[in-house]
Amino acid sequence: MTGGNGLSNRVYIFDTTLRDGEQSPGVSLNINEKLQIARQLARLGVDILEAGFPITSHGDFAAVQAVAREVRGVTVAGLARANFKDIDCAWEALRDAEQPRIHTFIATSDIHLQYKLRKNRDQVVEAAVAAVRHARKYTSDVEFSAEDASRSDVDYLARVFGEVIKAGATVINIPDTVGYAMPDEFARFIKQVMEKTPGIEKVVVSVHCHDDLGLAVANSLAAVGAGARQVEGTVNGIGERAGNAALEEVVMGLYTRQDLYRLTTGFNTREIYRTSRLVSSLTGMPVQPNKAVVGKNAFAHESGIHQDGVLKERTTYEIMNPELVGIAASNLVLGKHSGRHAFRDRLAELGYNLSDEELNLAFARFKALADKKKEITDDDLQALVEDEIRHI
Ligand code: KIV
Ligand code: ZN
Repeated sequence: MTGGNGLSNRVYIFDTTLRDGEQSPGVSLNINEKLQIARQLARLGVDILEAGFPITSHGDFAAVQAVAREVRGVTVAGLARANFKDIDCAWEALRDAEQPRIHTFIATSDIHLQYKLRKNRDQVVEAAVAAVRHARKYTSDVEFSAEDASRSDVDYLARVFGEVIKAGATVINIPDTVGYAMPDEFARFIKQVMEKTPGIEKVVVSVHCHDDLGLAVANSLAAVGAGARQVEGTVNGIGERAGNAALEEVVMGLYTRQDLYRLTTGFNTREIYRTSRLVSSLTGMPVQPNKAVVGKNAFAHESGIHQDGVLKERTTYEIMNPELVGIAASNLVLGKHSGRHAFRDRLAELGYNLSDEELNLAFARFKALADKKKEITDDDLQALVEDEIRHI
């Protein structure tokens, strides 16, 4: 389906938890762990699953091959630099996938050309075109990424993209490799690339944002607003340096603000929390408590005013239903900011229906305890009622 602007209403979600996510310092997943995550990503409904970078190690090759052989219902991608050896190796690993994608890349910014590649602009175009042509001999699904695209000259970038599209690329990816872009600027950049690139209407435009300035999700959403229809990122936003765009945030942003975007994804949002927990436990990377969508506090309310509001009507202080992301219910945390309403409700849930007098006394004791202890647990409440109220 397309919107009035000729663009599809569907945003494809490209997960790179097993490739860029695994590039997080200190993270190394074995083949069984990768398979577990890949199976869960398929349940989550990602469209494309980048299983690894096969040329980098035997372990990565074997993991990509195992995912390609086993996981169904999703496109499996493998990364390759723009050279034949990487591409041959990626294909060897991917060949048994139901829907294989070769993802090849080369940098296009002058800073990378001069210091890293030591190639001139024409040589990079030549390498990119040769790589895409070679990959197309293996599969009809070839993604080309222009590394450090956001710091590249836009006219040169459009030339590179135009040439790789002619050579057969089906997805062109515009990474903000070093997390340098600002949302408005990135949206304008995407529009310019789309206007200037010949043949752009034949391919899916993708973005891949890093989080060095904490803007990976904002930049991804800005790019979607400008016309991108594939977003790359990772679960919990893990990845190289400060990480990648957190896919659960991108998807819930699109979902929650359908009034603005009018776009859909194939995500089964109810699998979000389970996926986040699995990735956190297997990578050993904890999720910060205040992390959007999946953090321990994302649906927790502590202040009395907020608790009272949520008890009366959830949407007063919640823009997403926790059940929608696979979290059983909102969590009213009892602490020093909590009010009588939440306190009484929690006691009732624990089976205590106190008289008004008992409740007054219990609430006073609870406030005194909360001044000393940050979070009051159900055990604390039980002890308070049993020892201090019922035995008076
Ligand atoms: O950040 C980046 O530019 C990448 C590319 C390989 C897509 O990870
Ligand atoms: Zn990256």
